[in-house]
Amino acid sequence: MSTIIETKNLKKVYGTKGVSFNALDGIDLKVEKGDFLGIMGPSGAGKTTLLNLISTIDKPTSGEIFLEGKELNNLKDRELAKLRRNSIGFIFQDFNLLDNMTVEDNIALPLALERKHHKNILNKVDEISSFFGIKDHIKKYPYQLSGGQKQRTAAARALITSPSVIFADEPTGALDSKSSAELLQSMLKMNEEFHTTVMMVTHDAFAASYCKRILFLKDGKIYARLDKNESRKEFFHRILDLLSSFGGGSHEHF
Ligand SMILES: Nc1ncnc2c1ncn2[C@@H]1O[C@H](COP(=O)(O)OP(=O)(O)O)[C@@H](O)[C@H]1O
Ligand SMILES: [Mg+2]
Repeated sequence: MSTIIETKNLKKVYGTKGVSFNALDGIDLKVEKGDFLGIMGPSGAGKTTLLNLISTIDKPTSGEIFLEGKELNNLKDRELAKLRRNSIGFIFQDFNLLDNMTVEDNIALPLALERKHHKNILNKVDEISSFFGIKDHIKKYPYQLSGGQKQRTAAARALITSPSVIFADEPTGALDSKSSAELLQSMLKMNEEFHTTVMMVTHDAFAASYCKRILFLKDGKIYARLDKNESRKEFFHRILDLLSSFGGGSHEHF
């Protein structure tokens, strides 16, 4: 096992001096290659901020972030662009598919932008759409898909460049329970078969139970950790127990 993500005393302050707000207040974490890490915590805890900083979408106020051993602040724009293109994939809550492109073209987009050979792209799309169970739908447009199919298309697009890390922010947030389970099963398979490291923000204990480890954020700090060393179902109950012990009896807000 080797470390793929590390943060040291990571802080993000929003606002100006008068009205500043510590969205992240000193986060130290390490993620090993092949990990499936969940980030939980109440709304406003800093989950999205943390994911955005590590995934290079946003910049920290202070502290360090190492991705594949490289400290992000030290990277030149060109190196950062390369890291984004080759090492990182994203899955968002609202899918972020392009409506006027077919499923096939949406999935192919990251490779098309890299000007890969057409035949190679088609082979890769074929392979990856089978993997995510959407092969029968590749000629359709996003509006012709269910929420679950849209999100599996987004996952396929994220995986097509064979990134080392996939960042997912509430990927099941807009899905019904059956579609959620299918997506999570695909993400687990992706983690197991391709050893893709996954970092997933979720407020849903069911989604979190697919993770190997969970960090709980509150007020910009890590306040609890759980490691899975039991079945998914038992882990699910342990997550619920933890949420209710911290959440004053309710886990609605997580
Ligand atoms: N661009 C921003 N400007 C000011 N405050 C922000 C900004 N983004 C997030 N925040 C604040 O930072 C806190 C953490 O936000 P966020 O990371 O989105 O939380 P979570 O994803 O856990 O719900 C919230 O209080 C939010 O209002
Ligand atoms: Mg969020």
